[in-house]
Amino acid sequence: MYEIVKKEVLSPGVLLFDVAAPLIAKKCQPGQFVILRIDEDGERIPLTIADFDREAGTITLIFQEVGHTTRQLGTLNKGDGLLDLVGPLGKATHIDKFGTVVCVGGGIGVAPVYPIARAYKQAGNKVVSIIGARNADLLILEKEMAAVSDELIITTDDGSKGRKGLVIHPLQEMIDAGEKIDVVMAIGPVIMMRSVADVTRPYNIHTVVSLNPIMVDGTGMCGGCRVSVGEKNKFACVDGPEFDAHQVDFNGLMARQRMYHDHEKMERCGGGS
Ligand code: FES
Repeated sequence: MYEIVKKEVLSPGVLLFDVAAPLIAKKCQPGQFVILRIDEDGERIPLTIADFDREAGTITLIFQEVGHTTRQLGTLNKGDGLLDLVGPLGKATHIDKFGTVVCVGGGIGVAPVYPIARAYKQAGNKVVSIIGARNADLLILEKEMAAVSDELIITTDDGSKGRKGLVIHPLQEMIDAGEKIDVVMAIGPVIMMRSVADVTRPYNIHTVVSLNPIMVDGTGMCGGCRVSVGEKNKFACVDGPEFDAHQVDFNGLMARQRMYHDHEKMERCGGGS
């Protein structure tokens, strides 16, 4: 059992758990994820590691209560345990001194961006972060992101905090102003990552996205996390989760997600198998 040592509500429906997992905390790197199972009957959920404390032996997981399993996860409290926690999985982010890195996080995607932005900063990069949410209440990790960024730009769809608009708008403005950008790292809803890729593609700015498709085994065996990258089939769990954004088939990814969500909806209505 992996004990939950801290539980915090970050925004409505978005929860943070610190989980005691000393071996994972010792080895994990920014960009990697774990797959957890609540109990023997539970489905496996992949969650990116949002933070880690090697000394305390804990990892931080942030998740949104969207489906049956994440809602069940949300009912757990400090002191409860998770049955399985497998990780760290996936390849770590390539961190180097690139120059100026723009870290873009949308919604819950800010959680995995945070340790990556921190690592870029520690490697000596200038880090400009753009984080966005639908509204101010849904914005997470603002203080944490400010602490690891040279500049933090906030956007909300309704203008209730920061600038009104999408995360791609300040990014486009930076490009239009001729600011030199060496790398863009974007994590968030698939549609947001696709938009970021569309903005940077004409300028050939190296852009990395972290994909979070459906995962089952996390070992490259089941094919559940298949994504098309550069017209080749890749498995997000072992080949990713990060890929060159200009090579990802986002439309295919969205189609697979829609299929899954329809199935989830059916299950919730009692129509699933
Ligand atoms: Fe099964 Fe990636 S989760 S192949």
